[in-house]
Amino acid sequence: MDKLSREVFEHGKVLEELYFFDNYTKVFSRVSCEDYLEKINTFLDEFVIEHFEFEEKEIFPFILEKCNRYYEEKMIQELRDEHLIILEHVAEFKAQIKPLTSRLNSEIFCKILLLSQPLRREIMSHARKEDEQLLPAIKKYLVSFNCSNSELI
Ligand SMILES: [Fe+2]
Ligand SMILES: [Fe+2]
Repeated sequence: MDKLSREVFEHGKVLEELYFFDNYTKVFSRVSCEDYLEKINTFLDEFVIEHFEFEEKEIFPFILEKCNRYYEEKMIQELRDEHLIILEHVAEFKAQIKPLTSRLNSEIFCKILLLSQPLRREIMSHARKEDEQLLPAIKKYLVSFNCSNSELI
């Protein structure tokens, strides 16, 4: 998959997965709680930590190399700053839930759901911002520099 398609695909997945977590309304059971924890940990590893790394290494340098305009540089800087803050919050969240997982009950499950809420909102708002600002910039530079998608492969 080329990098642009991967970026678009992963953003679709981020929104889809966040929708899933928002609607995780099953009545508590140990199985559903363990399932939720496994899913949210996998989501954070793949669609936050690895996805941010991909953007930092592959997507942002492409935009910065093609542009010499204040707007794009400022946008990338803001996105990088958000990455740092979100990654800090992910590490805090993982550290907070780790001691809770050995004594799962409905109260702890509610606590975990509540702890994950601000983080999920933060990731959603970051992904939406990138959909609105970053994806159009990638597309614009592909066209204006007559790049084929292969340049992003
Ligand atoms: Fe990002
Ligand atoms: Fe992203």
